[in-house]
Amino acid sequence: MKVSVFGIGYVGTVVAACMADEGHDIVAVDISTEKVDAINAGQSPIVEPGLGELIERAVKARRLSATADVARAMADSELSFICVGTPSLPNGSLDLKYVLQIAADIGKSLKTKRDWHMVVVRSTILPGVMESQIIPLLREHSGKEPGKDFGLGYYPEFLRESSAIEDFRNPQVAVIGAMDARTADALKSLNADNGATSFVVDCRTAASIKYANNVWHALKVSFANEMGAICKASGIDGNKVMEILCADKRLNISPAYMKPGFAFGGSCLPKDLRALRYHAKMVDAPTPILDATVAVNHLQIDRALAAIAATGKRSVAMLGLTFKPNTDDLRESPLVELAERLLGKGYRLTIYDRDLQVAKLVGSNRRFAMQHLPHLNDLLVDDLASALRGGDVVVVGTGHKAFADLRPKLAAHHHVVDLVGRDLALRGHPNYDGAGWADAAPQRTPITVIRAA
Ligand SMILES: NC(=O)c1ccc[n+]([C@@H]2O[C@H](COP(=O)([O-])OP(=O)(O)OC[C@H]3O[C@@H](n4cnc5c(N)ncnc54)[C@H](O)[C@@H]3O)[C@@H](O)[C@H]2O)c1
Repeated sequence: MKVSVFGIGYVGTVVAACMADEGHDIVAVDISTEKVDAINAGQSPIVEPGLGELIERAVKARRLSATADVARAMADSELSFICVGTPSLPNGSLDLKYVLQIAADIGKSLKTKRDWHMVVVRSTILPGVMESQIIPLLREHSGKEPGKDFGLGYYPEFLRESSAIEDFRNPQVAVIGAMDARTADALKSLNADNGATSFVVDCRTAASIKYANNVWHALKVSFANEMGAICKASGIDGNKVMEILCADKRLNISPAYMKPGFAFGGSCLPKDLRALRYHAKMVDAPTPILDATVAVNHLQIDRALAAIAATGKRSVAMLGLTFKPNTDDLRESPLVELAERLLGKGYRLTIYDRDLQVAKLVGSNRRFAMQHLPHLNDLLVDDLASALRGGDVVVVGTGHKAFADLRPKLAAHHHVVDLVGRDLALRGHPNYDGAGWADAAPQRTPITVIRAA
C-alpha cells in the first residue's frame, strides 16, 4: 500500500520503517525538519534497537522518504496514519492540539483529492474524541463525509519502546476501529500474516481498549510493588511470591474475574483482604491499592442501589442472594448488603434463590443471614414466576442457570438491573440497565474476531 505516516516520533518512525520493510511505500511527515532530514539521510531520529538498519535499507530501496509537505504526502498515498503526540496538560487532560492540527491539514488535502483515501488515527485518544472533535474537523475542512466519501478508522498502536520492532511484527492482538468496511478491510489485510487476532469494533470501543490495556499494565506494576513492599516488610521474598502467583494460569493470569459485574463477596475475599491490610499496617507498609479495592467494592453496591432508585419503582425482585451461584453461602454476599439497604430505604423486596432454604442454614452462615436479614424467610419465594410478580424492578444478582432465558418471562412494565451481564437477550428489554456496559443492544457494536491462522 501507499501509506503516509504523520508524526515521526517513537510510534511513527517504527510504523513507517517496519511497514516499508514489509514492502509498502511510505512517506513520513513531520513539522520537525531535523526528523525529516534524518529519515531522508537514512538515519533513525530516535534510539530504538534495529531501527537504524531498517530505515537505512528502506530509504536506499526508495520505499521510505520524509517530507514536511502534508499535501504532497496525501497525494502520494491512499492511507494516512496519524501518529502525532497526545501529551498531558498540567491538569491531566489530553493535549489534542497536534492531533487536531493534523486532522485539519489532512481535511484540507482531502477536499481536492479525487481518489478514495483512508485516514486512520493511531495516536492515543480518549473514547469520544474521534466523534466529538476529529470527525467534525475533517468534515469541516474536507467538505466530505467520513465513512462515505473517505475512510476513517482508529487503530491503536500497542508497541513498547525498546522492543518496538518485535512488538510491531508480532502483535498478539490488533484492535481495529473503523467507520467503514473498506478501511476495516485495509487494516485487517495489514494483519493478515502477522499472527495477531484482529478485533474489529467501533472507534469508541477501540479507544477504550487502548486505555484499558495501558492502565491494566500500570495497575499490574503497582500491585506487584505493593505486594513486594508488604513481603519485604514481613521478611519474605516478594519475587518468589509473585512468581508463584503468576504460575496459576487458571485463576491468576487468566480471564477469570476480569469481567465487569457485581461486587465480590463470600467468606474469603473480604476477610482475607481485611486481614492483609491490617497486617500491612502493623509492618508499616501502606496499601493504597488494597484500600481502593475495598472502596471500589462498596461503590459497586452504591451503583446498583442508584440504578434501582433511578427506575422510580418501589418494589424489587432479587434473583439470587448468595455470593455466587450453586452455594447456599450468604456470608458477606454483596447481594445481602444490597437487600439490607433496599429494606432500609423502604423498598418492597422479594427474593428468589433456588439454592437457599432458611431452615437448612447452619453455623456462621445462619448467624450472618439472621443478623443482616432477620426476616429472610418472609422475603423468599419458591419460584421465578412469583418473584417476577412481586417486583417491578428485576435485579439479576447471580448468573444462576435458573435465571437463564429470562427475557420472554419479563413484562413490559419490568425494569431490569443486570449485575451479571451473561444473558445477552436481556439487553433487548426496553427498560434495561447493566452494571458495567452502556450498550443495551449488543448488536449495535458487533465485534468481529479474526483469529490468527
Ligand atoms: N511511545 C510509545 O511507546 C507509544 C506506544 C503506543 C502509542 N503511543 C501513542 O502514540 C502517539 C505518538 O507517541 P510518540 O511517543 O510517537 O510521540 P512523539 O512525541 O515521540 O512524536 C510525535 C511527533 O509528532 C510530530 N508532530 C506534531 N505535530 C505534527 C504535525 N502537525 N504534523 C506532523 N507531525 C507532527 C512531532 O514533531 C513529533 O515528532 C501518542 O498519542 C502516544 O500516546 C505511544
